[in-house]
Amino acid sequence: MGKVLICAAWPYANSPIHLGHIAGSLLSPDIFSRYHRLQGDEVLMVSGSDQHGTPITVKAEKEGVTPKEIAERYHEINKKAIEDMGIEFSLFTKTHTENHAKIVSEIFLTLLDKGYLFKKSTPQYYCPHCMKFLPDRYVEGKCPTCGNERARGDQCENCGSSFEGGGLEDAKCVHCSTAPEMRETEHFFLKLSAFQKPLTEWLAGKEEWKNSVQLFTKNWLAEGLHDRAITRDMSWGIPVPLENWEGKSIYVWFEAVIGYLSASIEWAQKTGNPEAWKAFWTDPEVKSYYFLGKDNIPFHTIIWPAILMAYGGLNLPYDVPANEFLTFKGDKMSKSRGLSIDIASMLEKYDADAIRYYAAINMPENKDADFSWSEFVTKNNNELVATLGNFYHRSLSFTHKHFGEIPEYKGSAEEEQKVMEAIAAAADEVAENLEKCEFKRALKAVMDFAQFGNRYFDGCAPWSLIKKDKDECGSALNLNLRIAKALAILSNPFLPRSSKGAWELLGYDNSIYDEGWASLNVPLPEHQKLRSPAPLFTKMEAIVEETNQFSGFSSLNLKVGKITKVEDHPNADSLFLLQVDIGQPIQVVAGLKKYYSHEEMLNRKVVVVSNLKPAKLRGCESQGMLLAADAGEELVMLLSAPEDAEPGEAVNSGLPQGEKRIEFKDFQKLTLRIGTIEGNKVNIGRELNCDVKEGEAGKVAVFLPADDAQEGLILRTASGKAVSVGSGMPDGANIR
Ligand code: MF3
Ligand code: ZN
Repeated sequence: MGKVLICAAWPYANSPIHLGHIAGSLLSPDIFSRYHRLQGDEVLMVSGSDQHGTPITVKAEKEGVTPKEIAERYHEINKKAIEDMGIEFSLFTKTHTENHAKIVSEIFLTLLDKGYLFKKSTPQYYCPHCMKFLPDRYVEGKCPTCGNERARGDQCENCGSSFEGGGLEDAKCVHCSTAPEMRETEHFFLKLSAFQKPLTEWLAGKEEWKNSVQLFTKNWLAEGLHDRAITRDMSWGIPVPLENWEGKSIYVWFEAVIGYLSASIEWAQKTGNPEAWKAFWTDPEVKSYYFLGKDNIPFHTIIWPAILMAYGGLNLPYDVPANEFLTFKGDKMSKSRGLSIDIASMLEKYDADAIRYYAAINMPENKDADFSWSEFVTKNNNELVATLGNFYHRSLSFTHKHFGEIPEYKGSAEEEQKVMEAIAAAADEVAENLEKCEFKRALKAVMDFAQFGNRYFDGCAPWSLIKKDKDECGSALNLNLRIAKALAILSNPFLPRSSKGAWELLGYDNSIYDEGWASLNVPLPEHQKLRSPAPLFTKMEAIVEETNQFSGFSSLNLKVGKITKVEDHPNADSLFLLQVDIGQPIQVVAGLKKYYSHEEMLNRKVVVVSNLKPAKLRGCESQGMLLAADAGEELVMLLSAPEDAEPGEAVNSGLPQGEKRIEFKDFQKLTLRIGTIEGNKVNIGRELNCDVKEGEAGKVAVFLPADDAQEGLILRTASGKAVSVGSGMPDGANIR
């Protein structure tokens, strides 16, 4: 029996993990590991929380707490969520440990010593307003490759491009929106260019890799590898282990990948055999698998292998079966703010096996897959409950009722062989697919076999056999229970809770891993006492999406608009004729001349209803409407979009937006009001419960599902920032 090293990408400790993490990078390693354990292999499976870098500090600054507090808070939350999902790491640690810092420093110094690191002064983004450098996520701008408006300083999540000191169009400081300047600063660089050839040769031997992973890596190599800065101007992180480098730390990606090694070493220390990690990293026969989402590919197929080559003596990744993304209503799950499906809250309502089943059968293995609540329910009810659960339950409870134990097999050798062959064929199909990391297919094969079990049970018709011939019935049930046992083993990698349940109902006292795959062709222990059966899966009620409360708001399509041209309407004294950029130019007629001058209108950032049926107003077409608050004839004020919002950005408060055109009268039916934030409520003349974020204050615009609603929805851009209005507008004022 061999050894396998299984590595899973380290989730950032800046938010609770969501279903996208499970389907993308955390469930597949667990499936793979359980399979290997069933095969009798020794598995080392490691990961942890990625606790450094700007993802953590940006979040900490938003909340006004220390980075350490964020990093520890989400580490605990995520570690627990992972355990509760039944995902069993040998060690799930974190990067903010002494052990990790020690090993990172050691590798850094070794690479420096070997000449793979060098110092260089380069221009980096610097915000003259905040007076600091803007590493990575502190700057956002337009990706020159794909046009994504919200690419980060180091990377575009949308197309996977990466940047080195500049490269974004229209870069802005995420704190103050100031356009940064470039300032010289000294950093350490990794001589990635030295690995062009070795990496190309290494990759040539990876023909078995998923196409997408090969292609991505080849493209990177084809563009030519550039030396990359691996330190940053920030203090949260692993300090550069040299004198006179205070205030700088090692780039989060350079150190996080080293976590796979440091976690293995920490694991070995904890098992009491500090050398135990070595076999997994130095024995060339031991394969290492890295499970991650597609945005992590180059760090695992180029940067990490380069570090390993530079360091020497350790195994390179054997396979990197990266997944695509799980989306929600077509959006990357982490982006659909307010809707992301966090694991702790899902587990409050649903069984871990049910979640695992849907995440596996719908895994984004070769293309993005969309999560849907209704499909989640259907798959649970029609497949888990009606197929697998049904077979377990009918075979186990019927036998328990009439025999109380595993009956003897006294039937023909032929019939026995038929069933054993069916088991072997199913096992082969599951194993073949799992070996190739084809998880969906493997699970499909398990479910097909459960289907076979149901047909076989029907064919035996034990309910009539029991009346005719008890021995014959016992023999038939014996074979059915062999199928049940095989299902417990074959489904175990995917559905560990119910597999353990079935195993126990079959009367076993040992662990399923003690018997494992090898026991699939072994008959059952006759006369083993069965335990009192109970259903292993439960049916779910249809899920009413929680967003329904605010579905009226979702009929609107609101966008940030910037007024680019202001003219008087040719035929009406009170009207402006405006050009507004909402990602595309539109013309708007607005009755605001009494309240604003041309200068006050020009370049203003406003909120536009962009899906109203176009209307002719005194002979000029109006293709949208600017939202304004109104406290009577004398007092009208435009709503203001957040200063740093881009024209065209959705004002969706994290919800889906209306795609259909609506009539003005439909709009008039909606209730939108001005209110002042007070604590965690909004005062609109009365108190309204709203999703107030820490640190928010002032006048905001809220949507009410009904005039007397207790809960309101603060109007926010897709990036989460609230729409505001001038302080002179009274609470409760209407928005039109
Ligand atoms: N934290 C990264 C992410 O969530 C993944 C890091 S993987 C590691 O995208 F290898 F660097 F640990
Ligand atoms: Zn700034």
